[in-house]
Amino acid sequence: MADFGYDIANFTEIAPIFGTMADFEHLMEVAKSLDIKIILDFVPNHSSDECEWFRRSAARDPEFKDFYVWHPGRMENGNRHPPSNWVSVFRGSAWQWHEGRQEFYLHQFVKKQPDLNYRNPKVRETMSNVLRFWLGKGVSGFRIDAVPHVFEIAPDAQNQYRDEPRNDWDNDPEDYGYLQHIYTKDQPETIDLVYSWRAVLDAFQREHGGEDRILMAETYSPIDIVMQYYGNATTEGAQLPFNFLLISELSNSSNAHAYEGTVLKWLQHMPNGRTANWVLGNHDQARVGSRLGRDRVDMLNMLTATLPGASVTYQGEELGMTNVWISWKDTVDPSACNTNPSIYEQYSRDPERTPFQWTDAQDAGFSNASRTWLPIAVDYKQVNVELERQKPLSHLNVFKQLWLLRKQSQTLQRGKTEVKALSDAVLAVKRYLERESTYLTLLNIYDGVETINLLQSFPDLPPQLKVVVVTERSQVKVGDIVNSTSLYLQPKDSLVLETTSSYYSYVTNGETRFLPVLGAYLWLAQVGIYLNNR
Ligand code: GLC
Repeated sequence: MADFGYDIANFTEIAPIFGTMADFEHLMEVAKSLDIKIILDFVPNHSSDECEWFRRSAARDPEFKDFYVWHPGRMENGNRHPPSNWVSVFRGSAWQWHEGRQEFYLHQFVKKQPDLNYRNPKVRETMSNVLRFWLGKGVSGFRIDAVPHVFEIAPDAQNQYRDEPRNDWDNDPEDYGYLQHIYTKDQPETIDLVYSWRAVLDAFQREHGGEDRILMAETYSPIDIVMQYYGNATTEGAQLPFNFLLISELSNSSNAHAYEGTVLKWLQHMPNGRTANWVLGNHDQARVGSRLGRDRVDMLNMLTATLPGASVTYQGEELGMTNVWISWKDTVDPSACNTNPSIYEQYSRDPERTPFQWTDAQDAGFSNASRTWLPIAVDYKQVNVELERQKPLSHLNVFKQLWLLRKQSQTLQRGKTEVKALSDAVLAVKRYLERESTYLTLLNIYDGVETINLLQSFPDLPPQLKVVVVTERSQVKVGDIVNSTSLYLQPKDSLVLETTSSYYSYVTNGETRFLPVLGAYLWLAQVGIYLNNR
């Protein structure tokens, strides 16, 4: 628990703190009976220093000697220094001296997380077997952790590692941002490694049948590199290399043009035939409500539920849970604990990791312990599952309606997409598919009341649309019919609209057109009368 589960001592066991293998097998059975698929977090970059492999490696056991990245260090004037200037993601040198082996080992995260040596084919084979083991237990796939870090550059002909260049904007030599990570991140070999893991999944499926097994890759990298993880013309990669753009490019002050640019950036870079994805939150990032605005929670859920492809969210975001302030004394995240009381808040991931809020009872119904591992949010009496189940337009119920719609709609699952900022304040997403309803998602990002004429931006829409999802802020209700030429959005309002069945849609010159069904009948009737009287 040096990094809360990301320091694995045994890759094919369940840590006792979480239960037993029998518990895991029971979980798999229950999930299957509920048609829930289980995906595991696969942590390939490092193990725990308590892992048997590391112990044996440190003891120079021939089988494991090169399982990790070891180096005797640089000798200067008779003094021993770390092999290079590399810095850990969690601060300080990425090299740790090991008394037993009398060498340094590399750790890109905390020192209790030694990096595995992927230049050793035995490591690659062992990790593929880890995947096979859990596939055999029935999991539907994996989220691959810290992918860009897996490979480092190989040492040069003199067995030396090169120093990484500096970033001018960071003056703190202990900070990860101090260096440009050209030798420790995004090495080309990593892409092929992910392809080889996909091959393991596909081979398993060929042998055992069943649905596709999925790889989701945690890829905080430049977009051109991220796209390579999808695969290429001949080789399949991860079905979903995570799209973190909604996290890295948008802030509380972003306008509709910025939202448009961020969404289009992914869609335009994505190779043909692949599935888009939208990560709204995770356990390493500030809560959506804290990052982009408490009053924008519904609109962001609406956006990601109606954009094409997969939507990735984090427990509690569907309730509108927000970051919890945690004192230095209560902070447990190594990323923050390795800093100091004046800067820790910039680094801490504890604020988004507080207990899930089930009810307004003690410890928000999460636990009956006298003290939880992190403090409970102060707002748990207003923000919890029990209460939100009762309020028709709570965040939770809006979220559920969105996913119900998504499950029912072929257009939302397979349709084409147009994304447009109608002004600084309003973002529109149109989804359309031949012979199916067209949907329009509208977000009013700011605090003014907005009047919109949708036909100006989408001339092929019919004059009237039906409201299918609203939020607490909306003045219209589900089922209302609104005019496409004069639509009102309340401050921070968002809506999903649908074309109604009183319009017949047809495609001409590749564009969808709408004809009022009544008009079509009258026109047909006239043709009939004419033919009859001829
Ligand atoms: C990933 C995880 C993060 C963890 C790190 C090291 O970024 O999401 O929580 O600390 O990898 O395993």
